[in-house]
Amino acid sequence: MMESRHAQRKNEHLSLAAKYYDQVHQHHYFDQVRLIHDSLPEMTTDDVDLHVELADNLEIENPFYIEAMTGGSDQALKINRQLAQLAHKHHLAMATGSLSIINKDPQAFSSFEVIREENPDGIIFANLSASASLDQAQAAISLLKANALELHINAAQELIMPEGDRDFNWLDNIQFLVNELDIPVIVKEVGFGMSKTTIAKLQTHDVHLINVSGRGGTNFAAIENRRNHNINFASLLNWGQTTPESLLEAHSIRRGKTEIIASGGITSPLDVIKAGVLGARAVGVAGYFLNILQREGYDALDQTLEEWQVIVKRSLALLGCTSFTELSRVEYVLGTDLLSYARQRHLR
Ligand code: FNR
Repeated sequence: MMESRHAQRKNEHLSLAAKYYDQVHQHHYFDQVRLIHDSLPEMTTDDVDLHVELADNLEIENPFYIEAMTGGSDQALKINRQLAQLAHKHHLAMATGSLSIINKDPQAFSSFEVIREENPDGIIFANLSASASLDQAQAAISLLKANALELHINAAQELIMPEGDRDFNWLDNIQFLVNELDIPVIVKEVGFGMSKTTIAKLQTHDVHLINVSGRGGTNFAAIENRRNHNINFASLLNWGQTTPESLLEAHSIRRGKTEIIASGGITSPLDVIKAGVLGARAVGVAGYFLNILQREGYDALDQTLEEWQVIVKRSLALLGCTSFTELSRVEYVLGTDLLSYARQRHLR
């Protein structure tokens, strides 16, 4: 069957994320964070518990999870089925791609439904635009029996898209949804990072779960610029804060009840650990896992997820931490660029 233009856009995201993968991963910003080794951890690996509590009634079994990617096309359905099977097998939480497409293209339904079918008891985050209505949010949550809702804030991406939104009045709607919905709401970027100003604004609008999703991995400026043949937005290709910069921004302000989630450019279990040291409560991975699935296949991603779990657990023991949240007391030093950023922003 002929796919809609919305489905075609989702397919372009998948193919362009693959196409630009090597280019955008030339910089590995977590190299700017070095952890201090303690030769006397004084614990056993059996003492490590990987569970993380993100909010009341929201506990995940592993600190890293499969971050929001796709849905809305036949290709997306196939990818979502495979990701959901692996999430089920490895007890990982998984976020869906944006369900906003369902309002424009009801055929898109099955490509999301499959995520719950393949993982009946798993933790699933539904994903929608921050401008979603309450009805749309409730429909998405009920379709997936979602355990949390992610609302993405993606002004930089929308501006580059020829068909993108131009109205970025989101905060009041976000606050409304947080207060009306009976599951936790996570507000997330899509790879441009967050400043302390953004995080403070979210906090004053009742948001307690914030995914800073920084620069350093999938680059939606590059992806949408490739799709936009009218205007060249090449000057925005390096827009935004990296994920380590965003985590330092978040760390510098009073947390209160807020929990920070990291994503953006996470390509190793050590990145997961470093994000935890910089204060992340959990870590989402999108492009890296997708790239393995698309280039090397299901079995390769299966093995990667197995290895990441083992390495994250053993690294926690190496650092003398019995849980992911204890990482925040591990000592670290920053590389020159990141230290300069932190000083100029008065973050340290
Ligand atoms: C994404 N991302 C994303 N985010 C979101 O909130 N809703 C979405 O629908 C999508 N769609 C999407 C498609 C594809 C193909 C990719 C690779 C990514 C963004 C994603 O969740 C994450 O925030 C960024 O990709 C940064 O993380 P990585 O990819 O560097 O690990």
